[in-house]
Amino acid sequence: MRKIAVCGKGGSGKSVIVRLLADAVRRRGWRALVIDSDESNTGLHRMLGFAKAPEPLIGLLGGKNHLEAMLEEAIRAGIPEMQVDLMPLGMQTAMIPPAYLLEKDGIRLVSVGKILMALEGCACPMGIVSRSFLKKLVLEPDEIAIVDMEAGVEHFGRGVETSIDCVLVVVEPSLDSLEVAEKIHELSEQIEISDVWAILNKIPSEAIAARLTERLEATQIHVIGAIKQDNDIFESSLEGRPINSRAAAAEIDKVLEFLFP
Ligand SMILES: Nc1ncnc2c1ncn2[C@@H]1O[C@H](COP(=O)(O)OP(=O)(O)OP(=O)(O)O)[C@@H](O)[C@H]1O
Ligand SMILES: [Mg+2]
Repeated sequence: MRKIAVCGKGGSGKSVIVRLLADAVRRRGWRALVIDSDESNTGLHRMLGFAKAPEPLIGLLGGKNHLEAMLEEAIRAGIPEMQVDLMPLGMQTAMIPPAYLLEKDGIRLVSVGKILMALEGCACPMGIVSRSFLKKLVLEPDEIAIVDMEAGVEHFGRGVETSIDCVLVVVEPSLDSLEVAEKIHELSEQIEISDVWAILNKIPSEAIAARLTERLEATQIHVIGAIKQDNDIFESSLEGRPINSRAAAAEIDKVLEFLFP
């Protein structure tokens, strides 16, 4: 279970949880490969303590225009979009040039690509890069991949999760967030991912945690962790520095213990 996707409603805390998980993986003596698969937000590298973002993988594959042309050609040739593959079989992190893969203190970061300009077209090529990369990626024995997904569920439609072993859904105290979690659970089942777990985030009280847990468990989504509403997390995100909340780290250690007993 070594390719983990962190999903959930916009702003629920996916990137924060990715950062906390990467740190917890490192504390266990393993290596974390963080994959930034969000086409819009640009701050994940800061949360992880990197001074700059890596060059996007989409650039390594010839750029968005080239991929769009390739995609059109494939579709004209009758190849379904879901079968378009871009990476060599057995892709390993060691094969990625250093500008595209940053590394610091046992955490590595790659980024799929970002929407940079108005009217540049849809993000389909990024979705294909994510799906292909995850499919072909062969992890080293001590390596765990953690994918920071785009908000919502569109990536399921693009098949990004087809090579994922485990989906972690971040749930904040809102009805929308619960509904997105339920949808993610349903979509994961459709592609036969049985390891779908919820992590509660921004929790103001035990009572709220209990209410969210009750609702999620009623739809067979098991809750494996709960991070409190935490001012340290909020401020470090605002200031663009890495998160160092001890309480959240301790909770995420338990999540990792659950996933890798
Ligand atoms: N436990 C927490 N306590 C307080 N603030 C939090 C907590 N978790 C996340 N936040 C804040 O919520 C905001 C959104 O967090 P984050 O960027 O991780 O969410 P996201 O789900 O990745 O968002 P997006 O969908 O835009 O990618 C940030 O300002 C962050 O500091
Ligand atoms: Mg995010």
